[in-house]
Amino acid sequence: MAADGAARGLSVPAAVPGARILGVGAYRPSRVVPNAEVAAAIDSSDDWIRRRSGIATRRFAAPDDTVVDMAAAASLKALAQAGIAPDAVDTVLLASMSQLTQSPPAAPRVAHRIGAVSAGALDVGAACAGFVHALATADSLIRSGTSRHVVVVGSERMTDIVDPTDRGTAFLFGDGAGAVVVGPADEPGIGPVVWGSEGDRHGAIAHSGPWPAPGASVTVAPTLRMDGPAVFRWAVATVPVAARAALAAAGVDAGDLAAFVPHQANLRIVDGAAAALRLPPHVVVARDVVHTANTSAASVPLALEELIARGAVPRRGLALLVGFGAGLSHAAQVVALP
Ligand code: UT7
Repeated sequence: MAADGAARGLSVPAAVPGARILGVGAYRPSRVVPNAEVAAAIDSSDDWIRRRSGIATRRFAAPDDTVVDMAAAASLKALAQAGIAPDAVDTVLLASMSQLTQSPPAAPRVAHRIGAVSAGALDVGAACAGFVHALATADSLIRSGTSRHVVVVGSERMTDIVDPTDRGTAFLFGDGAGAVVVGPADEPGIGPVVWGSEGDRHGAIAHSGPWPAPGASVTVAPTLRMDGPAVFRWAVATVPVAARAALAAAGVDAGDLAAFVPHQANLRIVDGAAAALRLPPHVVVARDVVHTANTSAASVPLALEELIARGAVPRRGLALLVGFGAGLSHAAQVVALP
């Protein structure tokens, strides 16, 4: 040790060659909500909702399905599929935009609930793109040797932040959680992330105001608002560009993919992006939005789990993930399926 306090190099962990997804898990609340139930309060119809969004049903959380409960349930399923014991998890990353408690962060409670009682745990705030941001962070933590097993979970109770009388959002969102377990690998199973943000367009998807400060005269909780057509145009322009860049960064072609799993914002965006990418017919396109609606940060792992659970994708096949949403933010990367 230098006794004079002079600068010297620090020890860091040895890097590992790669990281990969070891298991995927989901939690879907039991209550299935048809379009007719949400349409009444917004002067809409089942037909309009299906035509403009592709959504037929969504799940709404029960009162005791909290963001933490749903995250823990999905994470335990992912751990079971991965065959990793909870006490082997050293890091938990939770992506959510609907956890109403600002402090403490929710990730330490998720870590405790799954039995990773001393794991490092932090919340990741990137709205609907949060899961892909967190997965990229997990990949870097593992490849740098900082973490060994990371639980990455997206969990949303959108019913807590969406106004059921807002015509632009009430029919679009649903509740649920999806998780993956990421661990070290001899061959990289998570490609480089391509991400970005346009903070000058933060108003395109935003709450109607800040949560009221103590003593404020306004006591009504803010709710989510969205300039739907502007976000739609941004998404159909941004997703294919980010997707192509992620393919190039990983050194693979669209023909090498088994699946395309974009954020399940709207079926028209999913299908528009798939068409723009000219995906070959063998590439399975995730369309979980039809029965799960838009679950923000939970949508990518929920859609991934749905493809795996029904045997639609081969083991170790490659999937192209793209998250996008409020920020405005986006993130894309190619991953090998477990
Ligand atoms: O997850 C984060 C990222 N989010 C997204 O990517 C969402 C992007 N945006 C969208 O998916 C679409 O903009 C929506 C699904 C939200 C809305 O679909 P749209 O085709 O963009 O509808 P619009 O807002 O352009 O409205 C079209 C028409 C309008 O009537 P006119 O002016 O053509 O007569 C609206 O007044 O539909 C009317 N409308 C509705 N009608 C029945 C708007 N909302 C509704 C409604 N029910 N809920």
